[in-house]
Amino acid sequence: MKKIIRIAFYYLITIAISVSANTLNDLAIEAKVYDLLSKMTLEEKIGQMSQRNMKGIPVEKWEEAVAAGQIGSFLNAGDWKDKNRIQKIAVKKSRLGIPLIFGRDVIHGYQTMLPIPIGMASSFNPELLEKGSQMAAWEASADGQHWTFAPMIDITRDPRWGRIAETLGEDPYLTSVLGAACVKGFQGDLSDPTTIAACAKHYVGYGAAEGGRDYNTTWIPERELRDVYLPPFKAAAEAGVATFMSAFNDINGIPTSGNYFTLTEILRNEWQFDGFVISDWDAVGEMIDHGFCQDSSEAAFKAVIAGVDIEMESRAYELELQHLLNDKKICEDLINERVANILRIKFRLGLFDNPYNNGKRRNVLLSEKHMQVAREAAIQSAVLLKNENKVLPLSKNQKVAIIGPLANSPVDQMGMWTMDGVADAVITPLAAIKERVGSENVNYVQTLKTSRDISKDKFSNAINAVNNSDVALLFVGEEMILSGEAHCRAFLNLPGVQTELIKEIAKTGKPIVLVMMAGRPLTFHTEAKTSDAILYAWHNGTMGGPALADLLYGKVSPSAKLPVTFPRTVGQVPIYYAHKNTGRPPTPNEEKIPMGTPLDPQGFNSKYLDLDFTPEYPFGFGLTYTTFDYNDLKLSEEKISKCGSVKISATVKNTGDREATEIVQLYIRDRFASVSRPVKELKGFDRVTLKPGESKSVEFDLKACACGFHGLDNQYTVETGKISLWVGPNSHEGLEGAFNIVDACKCCH
Ligand code: GLC
Repeated sequence: MKKIIRIAFYYLITIAISVSANTLNDLAIEAKVYDLLSKMTLEEKIGQMSQRNMKGIPVEKWEEAVAAGQIGSFLNAGDWKDKNRIQKIAVKKSRLGIPLIFGRDVIHGYQTMLPIPIGMASSFNPELLEKGSQMAAWEASADGQHWTFAPMIDITRDPRWGRIAETLGEDPYLTSVLGAACVKGFQGDLSDPTTIAACAKHYVGYGAAEGGRDYNTTWIPERELRDVYLPPFKAAAEAGVATFMSAFNDINGIPTSGNYFTLTEILRNEWQFDGFVISDWDAVGEMIDHGFCQDSSEAAFKAVIAGVDIEMESRAYELELQHLLNDKKICEDLINERVANILRIKFRLGLFDNPYNNGKRRNVLLSEKHMQVAREAAIQSAVLLKNENKVLPLSKNQKVAIIGPLANSPVDQMGMWTMDGVADAVITPLAAIKERVGSENVNYVQTLKTSRDISKDKFSNAINAVNNSDVALLFVGEEMILSGEAHCRAFLNLPGVQTELIKEIAKTGKPIVLVMMAGRPLTFHTEAKTSDAILYAWHNGTMGGPALADLLYGKVSPSAKLPVTFPRTVGQVPIYYAHKNTGRPPTPNEEKIPMGTPLDPQGFNSKYLDLDFTPEYPFGFGLTYTTFDYNDLKLSEEKISKCGSVKISATVKNTGDREATEIVQLYIRDRFASVSRPVKELKGFDRVTLKPGESKSVEFDLKACACGFHGLDNQYTVETGKISLWVGPNSHEGLEGAFNIVDACKCCH
């Protein structure tokens, strides 16, 4: 007994020391921050609040301003030697030697490109996103970057919006889990020189842009803001993200860079965030264009009051803050608060101790290890949407016709936000398949120069190739340039004459495998009907080719699931799984208007007359090369208190003939509440890999407080009542159960 007590005592001491070590470190940094602040002039403080874009301007042009302490940060700051050169000016020539912090858009890899974020999200695998972010941080930090403007954790339900490519999908829970994993992967221990500061962006509501048009207005009631758009940012703050970025959009008329409610009341007062906030590019200056500020003086005033610490690229702070202080419109304490946030992160990053980069770690760029991370990511990101007659996996003995503009297009394959990606390092599907099965088994006809090509001149060549092959592999979709920032589309169909090409090839009667490479959900109902198999690969990065070869030839089974709903047509947008039931819910397949119908067709409910209201493919959907059976749903409790939890389990069995991974999903529905709740909400997911015939019980521990929402008072609340739940393979199907949340429990009264 004495020995147990002695061990417990030492254990408690160890915990106390580790906690106090972190606290002591934080306290030491606070002391340094305020000591340095006390020595700074007002001009030097304002200099820390300015970030400039170095791209395209020779380093020497910046040296005077940096030596004078007028700039605290750069983005796009050239190669590692340029960064060292300008850093030496800051550290050795400026009066207080405050180091610069270099930022870069490291969104889905650095030189070794991962699939675009919406592709990574299809993996439903936080460990993968953490590993991918860590790889990106190793490469970016080796090249002298200190900070990435990622993860982008905006929620959107509108595939017309070009930046859906950059999101982690439509769901707050999935985006919260995966976004926090990215923060952990980028940052690790911030003082470690192989890590970089992360940036939760674009805070907040940017993905709700009206009409799916970038930068457009958003109208978001506070309850919706707190239930849907804020949770991923709160999760990032709880994961310790070092910085936030305010967005371009206004929320209910208030631009986010001048929004005291979101930047201070929520971010600082409710969440106790102590890093710094940077505006998006020129977003402070653009408050004039919003009609929210008359001039740059008012823009600087509203941004600095609201809570923007660093202004990116526009120069309202640099030009106006001194005057605002002189005119006593703001006080220096406010400036001190803003600058303390900046210095705190520079200290936590260790920049004062290690401001330079010796370039010695650059051998990690495009390393074999990183190529394997990128390959695994591309494998886990590709969603199998259809596979009839077991067309997939292919056999190496088959002659394949490889057709289409995206079979051999490195730049498109890498996707949007590929600032440092290396096209020469990309292995395309064409190259990988030739390597896998031998060039003699491949008939390749690009047919279309780009996805937007409208020339049918090469159609006959493509049809000949298919006729001389056993199977047609069509690499179609959209080019990289059609997705990403400011690249929104009013139509979601395949661009150019790709649809016509697929139709002509279907006439050959040969099996067709569509490999879709895109930055958003596209609408391709007719093309899907004429294809035997469909693999949605997204823009899948440097190793997308070998990954697709592994999947198409069955070295590994697809496991990915859709992180976003696929509409049948753009007319259904916005369409998402966590929708409300309404007072007149439609039933599927009501779109037919019976012939001879009198004036009013059937049913008065929330349907379309000309199309079924359900999606083409639902959130969470994805097939594999085997089949899984779900049974034996069990709940540990029928009733739980508001502080209680219920264990939910189901047995999943591999009923096919190939080993595969299933992403088991848990959804709930709060049946009756003080405000209407969605028909389903994702509350858990788990990956399980099973051999043929193997079964496994998958268990979730669901807490009552996870079933809450923001009520009429905009406060988070858990209400009593019936909670339905489903455990299944996607948001449209699963084993159904239910439990009740009964009244308050002992602890929460
Ligand atoms: C862009 C983007 C933002 C990016 C920033 C710096 O306009 O909105 O996501 O990080 O500018 O490139």
